[in-house]
Amino acid sequence: MIVAKGIQQQLKHASWIRKMFEEGIRLKAERGEENIFDFTLGNPNEDPPPGVMATFRRLAELNRPGSHGYMPNAGFLSAREAVALRLRRETAVEFTANSILMTVGCGGAMNTALKAILDPGDEVIVPMPAFPDYEFYIANHGGVMVPVETDDEFSLDITAIKSKITPRTRAIILNSPNNPAGVIYSESVLRDLESVLQRADHTIVAISDEPYKSIVFDGGKYIEIASIISNCLIVTSWSKKWGLAGERIGYLAISPRTPDADALSNACTFTNRILGYINAPAIWQLVTAEAPDESTDISVYSDKRNLMCDGLAQCGYDVRKPQGAFYIFLKTPIPDDFEFVGLLQKEGVLAVPGRGFGRGGYIRLSLTVPRETIERSLPAFERVLKKVRAGA
Ligand SMILES: Cc1ncc(COP(=O)(O)O)c(C=O)c1O
Repeated sequence: MIVAKGIQQQLKHASWIRKMFEEGIRLKAERGEENIFDFTLGNPNEDPPPGVMATFRRLAELNRPGSHGYMPNAGFLSAREAVALRLRRETAVEFTANSILMTVGCGGAMNTALKAILDPGDEVIVPMPAFPDYEFYIANHGGVMVPVETDDEFSLDITAIKSKITPRTRAIILNSPNNPAGVIYSESVLRDLESVLQRADHTIVAISDEPYKSIVFDGGKYIEIASIISNCLIVTSWSKKWGLAGERIGYLAISPRTPDADALSNACTFTNRILGYINAPAIWQLVTAEAPDESTDISVYSDKRNLMCDGLAQCGYDVRKPQGAFYIFLKTPIPDDFEFVGLLQKEGVLAVPGRGFGRGGYIRLSLTVPRETIERSLPAFERVLKKVRAGA
């Protein structure tokens, strides 16, 4: 077998995603696309904002010399300056263009950062539930994921985190607003984390994964992690904010308060290159530089969140509304989330089991579906709950 043993192992581990995907295709072919309610994928179904597309068309038409070639590996200066300016305003931390590396999406930023900081066997703490690919990203660079449970509200359990720190700990991954739990970390919990990281006897960085930062509901406030955590690497993208997931445009920002920030910045420019990304997609770097204040219409997600949460609560589910991002992490009425996903599937509803994110007893529902999919799916959720209660 030519496929590496490590990858064969990882494929087995990741096979539930593939199984669900295949089952979805099978069900759609069998029962008709309109009878299947697919809540599995976090792929924004809204078009990018009109101003973003207008900038893209203008720049493509303009075709300025050098628009499509290599540029300094860290990215076009104009793009990095625009990001740094925005981060200075948002975080009050003195980010400069030198702190910024344009990347191939958020996943590219995270791999670039992990490759720069991990030696084989180094540990990365990950609060659970979490985006499943973190484990693979860490393993890509010889690291070991150290999962740590969050509290009942899915917020950081500082005592638990402290107990996981060892001489091999290099980083903790934070993701607020969180996929899948929808929680936004509070200022006080972040301050507690900062004091734990500052008291450690070696440098531990927080890698703040922020693709959902602009998707915050009910007039809530996103607490800027880089404002509070000194050793902070921001990884993010325009995948969710502008619905550009397929264009692969993001950035890594290294807080100047991080020890050895300049050396780390050099290292990341190098790792971005040797991972084969070389640089982020050129035209999209230019778009982000020239259309910097375009944002997504959050009311679309907020409306769908309310429709889904209120609908599920009326059916009798135990629902907690997400504070941000575009997922609902729903407590299952039976302990086995895989079994519950199976029951939903029989009714044409596709969802992701919580165990895939490291927390059983929940399912994740993505709100990146048309409004009417939510409306039409609610009777199916109700039928399944009735069946469960009737012990069927
Ligand atoms: C928490 C989280 N981090 C990172 C990513 C990857 O983002 P990108 O597509 O920009 O690489 C995702 C995508 O779903 C995500 O949910």
